[in-house]
Amino acid sequence: MRITIFGTGYVGLVTGTCLAEAGHEVMCMDVDSNKINGLMKGIVPIYEPGLEALVKQNVAEERLLFTADPAEAVGFGTLQFIAVGTPPDEDGSADLKYVLSVADTIAEHMQEYKLVIDKSTVPVGTADRVSEAIAQRLHQRDVDIPFDVCSNPEFLKEGSAVEDFSQGARIVIGCDSPRVEPLMRECYAPYNRRQEKLMFMDIRSAELTKYAANAMLATKISFMNEISNLAERLGADVENVRRGIGSDPRIGYSFIYPGCGYGGSCFPKDVQALARTATDVGYEAQLLNAVESVNYRQKASLFTKLSQALDGDLEGKTIAVWGLAFKPNTDDMREAPSRELMEAVWAAGGKVRAYDPEAMQECRRLYGERDDLALAKRRDDTLEGADALVICTEWKAFRTVDFRRLREQLTTPAIIDGRNLFNPESVRAAGLLYFAVGRADSLRIPLSGGDGASAPLSRIGQDGPSVAYTL
Ligand SMILES: NC(=O)c1ccc[n+]([C@@H]2O[C@H](COP(=O)([O-])OP(=O)(O)OC[C@H]3O[C@@H](n4cnc5c(N)ncnc54)[C@H](O)[C@@H]3O)[C@@H](O)[C@H]2O)c1
Repeated sequence: MRITIFGTGYVGLVTGTCLAEAGHEVMCMDVDSNKINGLMKGIVPIYEPGLEALVKQNVAEERLLFTADPAEAVGFGTLQFIAVGTPPDEDGSADLKYVLSVADTIAEHMQEYKLVIDKSTVPVGTADRVSEAIAQRLHQRDVDIPFDVCSNPEFLKEGSAVEDFSQGARIVIGCDSPRVEPLMRECYAPYNRRQEKLMFMDIRSAELTKYAANAMLATKISFMNEISNLAERLGADVENVRRGIGSDPRIGYSFIYPGCGYGGSCFPKDVQALARTATDVGYEAQLLNAVESVNYRQKASLFTKLSQALDGDLEGKTIAVWGLAFKPNTDDMREAPSRELMEAVWAAGGKVRAYDPEAMQECRRLYGERDDLALAKRRDDTLEGADALVICTEWKAFRTVDFRRLREQLTTPAIIDGRNLFNPESVRAAGLLYFAVGRADSLRIPLSGGDGASAPLSRIGQDGPSVAYTL
């Protein structure tokens, strides 16, 4: 099939590349001509495992083409995927200007039947708006060309996007025309061989499915973070609780890791957008609003714990930060907890010395050159003379640490671990303070004097960390 993809971000580029890899002829179009020029030379602007090799291979085999010319893009494919961004508008709703602009572009240039596919995450009712936009433009052109619009939300995760696209559990397609199903079946046939993954449904249900999926995952994270905050205050260890509930098959282990809040380009904006959609139809989405506010508080908890470790004085202090990306295996820093932390450190007069295996360039792009931000070449180069260490992302490379060495390098021997990477016993044995998430075994750390007495629960303030102790 000949397929056009609008947008060469995480979703568009992965979709286009994987469909080319499956044997289709694909043309990817982006308004960002720098991106397109780079991609034509095989330069992939994002970090996504396995993607660069696939792009290069399919470009070389001439199944994957790039263009910045909208007319060429519209002329190329019978299938026209819209995979552009849908950032939050000021009121939290999804901003559809990019999606509608692509709809207009397609209608302006199309000369024959097109199937327009909404792959971007868009609110319920967007397919109707895309149809209207196309019909209006065709009317202005005074032409009568058939077209269909369908919804095909994407469920890939950054960090394993290629794998998720190729081996996803389901392919949801919302459509209301008999022309759509055979075309979408042909498009996805290479990915639908082992078992039937295609789920056809009405368009509005498909649009809502995407938001429901992300809202459910965000809810699991916020729920676990709520439990971790309770664990800190009740003298329990959330890691035990996690194992205790995850073993129940009705609950399961996935997405119940406590941490420093969810970030990225999807969960925050999609939860907000769904809550906004609810408001628009006169329904107060209490649960979604709570998920959002728990997450907001959780992201702030890193700085609260850091402040406690440094007795509230960050002026002139240097904070080592491990992990800038919102999660491992990506360079994406959109809504990353690290950003909230760094910005709070700077506002309090502190400096940041940071390391991330992939997101350093992105960090520089976002914050530029500044005196209070140093980017270290290696993880351990962040430590010497730093006042404390904060871990924001659970990269594998952060899991093994020589705690005794780290104890010698840090001025204040404190680790604020937003991802519960370590065994508290090992950290403590090296003489470090360990501010983890919901880990109450730290409560048994002896207070100064080392008499083995438990820290009194009264030390745990309403907003305080689990483990504010002197060794
Ligand atoms: N990133 C994810 O993990 C993920 C997963 C599932 C769904 N989604 C959804 O997919 C959509 C795209 O997300 P993304 O992360 O790939 O976005 P992105 O910001 O990485 O990329 C969007 C691209 O669209 C381009 N663009 C904007 N207007 C254009 C136009 N008129 N014509 C052609 N290109 C245009 C931009 O230049 C940019 O390259 C969003 O709705 C998002 O919610 C994202």
